[in-house]
Amino acid sequence: MQIFIDSADAKELAALAMTGLVDGVTTNPSLVAKAGGDFFETLKAICASVSGPISAEVVAQDYETMLAEGRKLRTVADNIVVKLPLTPDGLRACKTLEDEGHPCNVTLCFSAVQALLAAKAGATFISPFLGRLDDGGQDGMQLIREIRAIYDNYDYPTQILAASIRTASHVRDAAIAGADCATIPPAVFKSLYKHHLTDSGLAAFMKDWAATGQKIL
Ligand code: G3P
Repeated sequence: MQIFIDSADAKELAALAMTGLVDGVTTNPSLVAKAGGDFFETLKAICASVSGPISAEVVAQDYETMLAEGRKLRTVADNIVVKLPLTPDGLRACKTLEDEGHPCNVTLCFSAVQALLAAKAGATFISPFLGRLDDGGQDGMQLIREIRAIYDNYDYPTQILAASIRTASHVRDAAIAGADCATIPPAVFKSLYKHHLTDSGLAAFMKDWAATGQKIL
């Protein structure tokens, strides 16, 4: 499963890229507002530190302006992916931009039939929002399972990008359900390394090694 980071904080993303585990980045207007700074300068900085797909979202809601914004976003760097909302205009823009060779990520997906439409529009990525469905008392992970089954039934190449991830368990369950990618907030990404038995096991190894009085270097 590809690991994307859900953030528009260019400095933090550059640091996380050093882990060698980051395959891409997703931004959205709320994350850009939270990070502050100039949108295009931020995108350039992110694209310079992460070579994989970097999703940048349009803010227009009509087809023509979405196309213009999407084409402009794609001039920032070759690895920009145009993020479009799951609306009739958004899917129409997705079809046109994909036909022109611009990869698109269709966002704000909350149902399997929406994901079916995005696949038919030729989207490179579909972003189902797990956490927000859970927030509303629904089972977000069931949506991933349903989309996986539909895409596999018809060999749709659209990649399932599990989004609105809130916990390490979400990451685990999305991987088990067959999501192609998960976009993970920085704090949740850092938590994936953690297990208390790793910490206590390492402490015991170090204590025993120190008792030998030896060195490797
Ligand atoms: O990038 C979109 C998505 O991951 C947002 O997550 O936590 O705002 O529901 P959240």
